[in-house]
Amino acid sequence: MWKFHRWFERHSLILLIGILVVVSIGGLVQITPLFFIESTIERVQGVRPYTPLELAGRQIYIREGCYVCHSQMIRPLRDEVERYGHYSLAAESMYDHPFQWGSKRTGPDLARVGGRYSDEWHRAHLVDPRSVVPESVMPPYAFLEAKELDVSHMRAHLTANRLLRVPYTQAQLANANADARAQAEPTGDGAYDFEKRYPGLASRDYDGDPSRVTEMDALIAYLQMLGTEVDFSTYQAEDPANLR
Ligand code: HEC
Repeated sequence: MWKFHRWFERHSLILLIGILVVVSIGGLVQITPLFFIESTIERVQGVRPYTPLELAGRQIYIREGCYVCHSQMIRPLRDEVERYGHYSLAAESMYDHPFQWGSKRTGPDLARVGGRYSDEWHRAHLVDPRSVVPESVMPPYAFLEAKELDVSHMRAHLTANRLLRVPYTQAQLANANADARAQAEPTGDGAYDFEKRYPGLASRDYDGDPSRVTEMDALIAYLQMLGTEVDFSTYQAEDPANLR
């Protein structure tokens, strides 16, 4: 037995392969079940897929590298919970492809920024952060206001998300491009149909210019929904009444 071991240790390549085999068995035993056990992500009431406009805003968030300075994950530690609100639940990012948890915080965590400020505050802040927070080091993103939102690929984007098991309906896929605009045009023709396809949501103008749908509309729509889906005034971890 020891001779065999000695042979193993003197042939580094064989030892390396042996280590890889043992580590992969351990890894597979731990990781594979997570893909199949239903309870890996507890389903929580209120969590819903992003609307096309929010998803477009999320793409802008990724494109502009907001994640370089902002995390979206509140850890269950007292200082974080007191500053940002209830710690993040796994279910809250179940429709995130890719997720935006991050670990680098030059600016504050944004996981629960939705509803904390008005749309107008966000617009002023994104156009010129120092106009509302004089000591801010955040760069300005005024150009978002001038750029018409390109919605032509939203249908393909929702379809890709559906392949990853985000439960969009056929009607939501078919109308994704129109719905992306309709959510920011409360007086437009599509607003009523949008509200029917996304029950509980209301169309509204986010960027202060109802005549256009801009990248600013999309980004603010995304920021304003972050962390607002679950009602934490009634949520109790482990309480089956909160699970759907
Ligand atoms: C260079 C780092 C940096 C980048 C990049 C950055 N931010 Fe910030 N952000 C900050 C800092 C610092 C603050 C805190 C000061 C302030 O409010 O401006 C902040 C604050 C914020 C706030 C207010 C949060 C709160 O709870 O008060 C929001 C919302 C925000 N950023 C959104 C964004 C978005 C959206 C982007 C991308 C378009 C972005 N940031 C890019 C650094 C950054």
